[in-house]
Amino acid sequence: MKTNALLAFFFFLVALLASTRAEFVRDSEGHLVANGDIYYLVPQYSPGAVITGTNITNPDGSCSVAAVEMITHNNGTATLIETKLLAAYITTDYPLHISFHLLPPNLCTNYTDWVVVWDEDYEQNAVMVGDAVYSGFYFKTYDSCRHFYSLVFCVDQYKCGQVVVKTDGHGNKRLIVAAEQGSECPLVLKLVKQSDSH
Ligand SMILES: *[C@@H]1O[C@H](CO)[C@@H](O)[C@H](O)[C@H]1NC(C)=O
Ligand SMILES: *[C@@H]1O[C@H](CO)[C@@H](O)[C@H](O)[C@H]1NC(C)=O
Ligand SMILES: *[C@@H]1O[C@H](CO)[C@@H](O)[C@H](O)[C@H]1NC(C)=O
Repeated sequence: MKTNALLAFFFFLVALLASTRAEFVRDSEGHLVANGDIYYLVPQYSPGAVITGTNITNPDGSCSVAAVEMITHNNGTATLIETKLLAAYITTDYPLHISFHLLPPNLCTNYTDWVVVWDEDYEQNAVMVGDAVYSGFYFKTYDSCRHFYSLVFCVDQYKCGQVVVKTDGHGNKRLIVAAEQGSECPLVLKLVKQSDSH
């Protein structure tokens, strides 16, 4: 897998950005999500699952860290949510940079940013950990009463894909960007503020 390869894939055309009204993104307690704050992303339709990073062995024997959904006893790996726009709070309209906060030291990468790369072996647009030169994630309202959000990744204003969970050949429940709309259910998340980051 090449971590800095161009995204050589087709995104299904979705007018998500153009058609939806911008709303403030809220955490699990209904508070506005601050630009640069740290949250656990908690899957809502997989009881006990958390979002974290895991080692993936590449065909050439090297390793990479992939973003996965996993059932564990801990809270997963918290993420830093930020937009480069001068904004105090995150809305559903802002392109986001997401990175793992305190990813355990590993020999695979020194980066913590979420990047979307075409994984030739897996044949998916995978969410991996790497050096993000581009911020293209967006939270989209899934259920505004419950503060549930899905995640979308866009390469430009009209080319976006939904982040979904798909099991790879090694049983890892990988976060991938779906190439077609509606073929898979979105990953639905709640943002739980890391308790020590107040
Ligand atoms: C996990 O999350 C719960 C609830 O948000 C919190 O009370 C607990 O301290 C967290 N545990 C760790 C290890 O961060
Ligand atoms: C990931 O791989 C590195 C080196 O191969 C190893 O040191 C580390 O313990 C692994 N981490 C996990 C979570 O498997
Ligand atoms: C991470 O940084 C250390 C120290 O600079 C370096 O020795 C190591 O090769 C780096 N690891 C990777 C995967 O780039």
